Amino acid sequence: MYNDAYKNIAKYYDFFTNRLLTELRKQVVYICNKYSFQQILDLGCGTGNLAFQLVEDKIKTIGVDASLAMLKEAQKKILKNKTGLNFQESLNNKPIFLGSDITKLPFKDNSFDLAIISLVLHETEADIAKTIAEALRVSDYILLADYHLPERNLEVPFFYFVHFIERIAGKTHYFNFKRFMKKGGLQGLIQRICIKHNLIICEDISICYGVLGVVVLKKKA
Ligand SMILES: C[S@@+](CC[C@H](N)C(=O)[O-])C[C@H]1O[C@@H](n2cnc3c(N)ncnc32)[C@H](O)[C@@H]1O
Repeated sequence: MYNDAYKNIAKYYDFFTNRLLTELRKQVVYICNKYSFQQILDLGCGTGNLAFQLVEDKIKTIGVDASLAMLKEAQKKILKNKTGLNFQESLNNKPIFLGSDITKLPFKDNSFDLAIISLVLHETEADIAKTIAEALRVSDYILLADYHLPERNLEVPFFYFVHFIERIAGKTHYFNFKRFMKKGGLQGLIQRICIKHNLIICEDISICYGVLGVVVLKKKA
């Protein structure tokens, strides 16, 4: 049976992470507009904040997550959404949220302009290869947002905050996070997957004093 690691923390997720992730989400929306991406898949969408920001910019977004607790928080926001829209507007102004494992997505090949994986891979070390392969199956472009700096940069004050958050997320979560950072964090991962999947880097943006990174990768033609 699926063990929902976010069962007890879903309610507090936004409180602990929103400030850290504001700039990151702004950058993602900016990139989607810059490349005119119109149909987005947000893998591991969590409480849906990025998806809501994208639909606000009229970018159609489906969020997928395995945690029912996180999806429940996302769904609550739909219920609180704007009023005064007509039927078509209300269909267009909401993200769709689906419960699914991101390593086995229920979509056909090339269904999306962009597949986003934001702050998921550092906690799913063992599934990174499968998740990336699935993202590249459904889209030619992928956007990865995750921790940027390797372990030795602990002198950056923000980094202590990140360690605190990752630690309270649980023992397994923290173990995976430390392993991800030891392998070079997001930058290490990018180097490995660019070679393996023949990808080129279209965007590489550093956020929060270099603690977070947003990278857009594209399959080589
Ligand atoms: C740290 S949260 C990130 C949420 C959101 N993407 C953000 O940027 O705030 C990681 C999310 O990935 C989800 N997740 C982890 N492994 C998953 C899997 N195999 N299938 C679906 N969702 C997964 C978790 O349930 C959780 O909601």
